[in-house]
Amino acid sequence: MSDVISAQEFAQRRAALLAQLEENSAIIIQSASMVARNSDVDYLFRQDSTFFYFSGFNEPDALLLVKKSAGKLEYHLFCQPRNLEMEIWYGYRCGALGVVEHYGADFGHSITELDEKIPELLDGVSHLYYSLGRESLNPQVNKWLTTMRSRSRRGVIPPSHLLQLDDVSHEMRLIKSAAEQQMLRIAAKISADAHIKAMRSCQPGVMEFQLDAHIQHHFAMQGAQQPAYSSIVGGGKNGCILHYINNDQALRDGDLVLIDAGAEYQYYAGDITRTFPVNGTFNPEQKALYEVVLQANLRCIAMLKPGVCFNAVHQCALLILTTGLVELGLLQGDVDELIEREAYKDFFMHKLGHWLGMDVHDVGNYKIDGQWRGLQAGMVMTVEPGLYIAIDNMKVEARWRGIGIRIEDDILVTENGCEVLSGAVPKGVSEIESLMAQSR
Ligand code: GLY
Ligand code: MN
Ligand code: MN
Repeated sequence: MSDVISAQEFAQRRAALLAQLEENSAIIIQSASMVARNSDVDYLFRQDSTFFYFSGFNEPDALLLVKKSAGKLEYHLFCQPRNLEMEIWYGYRCGALGVVEHYGADFGHSITELDEKIPELLDGVSHLYYSLGRESLNPQVNKWLTTMRSRSRRGVIPPSHLLQLDDVSHEMRLIKSAAEQQMLRIAAKISADAHIKAMRSCQPGVMEFQLDAHIQHHFAMQGAQQPAYSSIVGGGKNGCILHYINNDQALRDGDLVLIDAGAEYQYYAGDITRTFPVNGTFNPEQKALYEVVLQANLRCIAMLKPGVCFNAVHQCALLILTTGLVELGLLQGDVDELIEREAYKDFFMHKLGHWLGMDVHDVGNYKIDGQWRGLQAGMVMTVEPGLYIAIDNMKVEARWRGIGIRIEDDILVTENGCEVLSGAVPKGVSEIESLMAQSR
């Protein structure tokens, strides 16, 4: 199977989207723009996921419009105009002719023509779908509609229904095609191998960001130009900080290190967490807590198949984690009652997982008509139970404090069960210890 999404698939997505919309409708999707980091320096460009999903076009400052009337589609792609001076400074632009030749557009336009062309293209369209609430687009849509209303005596009729495109586009993105599943498989494999590399490279005294450097190097050498998100590399108590990205401390002998890192491959994200001992050997408290989290990870993954309710998996994790906390003496009382009053929240304060795809926290509703939805083949999600014992938690014995553990895997729901995409990286205590011992 190919390791890129084909032009044909991008065209099929546009057709599938429009097929779900009212007759005589149009969609508008805006690209991302460059973002300044500081004077004259920009962040590396990352296209908007939904724009890329429907276009495959990765230049900034673009916009796509697809119209459907009498069952026929008309695809307009607005892009930055060719400009030799700008291209000397900032690089090649495809241009209005290029998007027709290379990206399947029926009509290419310069982005500078938006205000002139869009009111013309929307004349007579009854339903307009776009991402309602997207700050940068709403004022522009208002402007185009105002322009159209000002031309009413010329017979111009603006769309009468403004509808939420996200409702449809996000559902499409939630169910991954065979080609998308393959991208996610590759992203997870690159991520998994990078975690193995970090385990092999870890030793006391190494800085957290240096361990991340091994990960980033592996991502790049395997063809993943960017990570899917900023890595979390938290030694000791830093592992208890859920969104720790400073990564600026030295790793200490006797501590655990929690690494949450994932590659982005062809716009698809890996998202893996492993927690392991800096010196290669778990101490008794670390091991005891780790085994509880591992059991939650394994049992939740074993549940995943079509029809299983997203929240039932979360409840399974709560039961295993809370039972483990009681058995280790970190919580006292009846397990059901502790779950009822959310006593576990001192130690496990996030959800068990999330959809995974082009965005690491991918789009798609978790509930339908107020009910947690059942899983379907083609969905991809993470399973990431954790236990975090705050350094200042005086309700537990000192020996437990400052231990943070999360074990996160990427799972594809299949027709009969699931496929663990991140399975290549070890997570059993003895597997981790022997992998690390081989590298010493
Ligand atoms: N890396 C972000 C998350 O695990 O949700
Ligand atoms: Mn995650
Ligand atoms: Mn993660």
